[in-house]
Amino acid sequence: MNDLPAATNWQDVDAAHYLHPFTDYKALREDKSLRLMAKGSGCYVWDDQGRRYLDAFAGLACVAIGYGREELSRAAADQMTELSYASSFFKGTNIPAIKLAQKLVEITPEGLSHVFFATSGSEANDTALRIARRYWQLEGRPDRQHVICCDNAYHGSTVAAGALSGIPQMHAQAASIPGISHIKTPYKFGYGRGMEEEEFGRLAASWLEDEILRLGADTVAAFFIEPIQGAGGGKIPPMNYLKEVRKICDRYDVLLVADEVITGFGRTGHWFASDTFGSVSPDLMCLAKGITSGYMPLSAVMVHEKIAKSLVDKGGEFHHGFTYSGHPVACAVALENIRILGSGVIDTVRTELAPYFYQKLQAIKEHDRVGEVRSCGLIGAFELVENRHDLSPIENADEACEHFRTLGFKHGIIVRPIGSTVVMAPPLVITVEQIDFLFEQIETCLDQFSTYLKAIT
Ligand SMILES: Cc1ncc(COP(=O)(O)O)c(C=O)c1O
Repeated sequence: MNDLPAATNWQDVDAAHYLHPFTDYKALREDKSLRLMAKGSGCYVWDDQGRRYLDAFAGLACVAIGYGREELSRAAADQMTELSYASSFFKGTNIPAIKLAQKLVEITPEGLSHVFFATSGSEANDTALRIARRYWQLEGRPDRQHVICCDNAYHGSTVAAGALSGIPQMHAQAASIPGISHIKTPYKFGYGRGMEEEEFGRLAASWLEDEILRLGADTVAAFFIEPIQGAGGGKIPPMNYLKEVRKICDRYDVLLVADEVITGFGRTGHWFASDTFGSVSPDLMCLAKGITSGYMPLSAVMVHEKIAKSLVDKGGEFHHGFTYSGHPVACAVALENIRILGSGVIDTVRTELAPYFYQKLQAIKEHDRVGEVRSCGLIGAFELVENRHDLSPIENADEACEHFRTLGFKHGIIVRPIGSTVVMAPPLVITVEQIDFLFEQIETCLDQFSTYLKAIT
């Protein structure tokens, strides 16, 4: 355990100085419920009181190979000693960035031949938007600037990524730019109950076609899609959806941008969800989180050869970039992380862990308060309902289901409630025994949640 100075009241110091992301500051100050994490190892984190939690959300779905891996700290330390920083501006470059670009091209879907580095998932999505719009300008079709996204999507929190996201509360706080519209998400529990998977996949894809036709295909630059909606509630589309939208994008010459910030690097049991959902090749692909297992901030946009060719052949400066684009330490860490993921971790997710996780999820489907369960690889979710027989929703779901998070902490597990959905995305190195523990605690939490609901209604 870290030796935190005993006399310090960290809650007060935090309240005095630290503005947290996505937080109601007044509420936080009033309920004083900060959770101060002090140590991590494997799939566990410990708080400052020494309590241990199984982190079934891998930080923010990023700690793929688990906490405290010495291979990564060594890779970072070695690179810091060798060359701690190098700019990629003004013709600059560095070996780890070059090696990582080559590696990413090797493991991502066919056709993606170039990489643009940034530091966060939000910046990757901003970059993809900039590249998509620049591409059409270079192609002599500057009217193609409109972008289509999905409701409830989360692409990040910069102004542009917030605008791409389908979250009205963010748009209302200035995360809004013109030329972006949102269609319904391929969310069967919400929009296609009772339908066959394939039939719903085709229907959901047709919403994209309707929107392209409504706008006029000649005005549309790109469609941004999270292959599985993460922050929107672990929404897993039918297997045919991504293939269907690829066909529609091809039909109307619209770029397909896969935001694989959560689904990349083994989360779905293959390197990328684009592989899992039928070997789809996107035109642009946003990567972050699992690229370094969260050890260093790093993101990347994979760029299809046809777009890269236009950027390169047609020339003219691309006025875009970041001080930390291609940061050598972050790239060195990513290379080591990818080596570890490729040395059996992803294969084990696909062949052993994902089927076991799915089986365990199916078992909680019978609980009175569970309306649906779903998983793909090691991302899974269950819907909390008032009554599983008629699937009636819980009143004041946000508040009520927040209680599920608290129950989780009480029972030593970290899960992520989003509205009335509880999402899990554990480290990819979780063991079968840890999955057993996780679901034992979830069953206890479900019983206690049920009692809590009865008490408040
Ligand atoms: C799919 C997706 N895209 C983009 C982002 C934004 O990434 P970041 O928080 O690194 O900016 C997230 C973050 O959760 C995400 O889930």
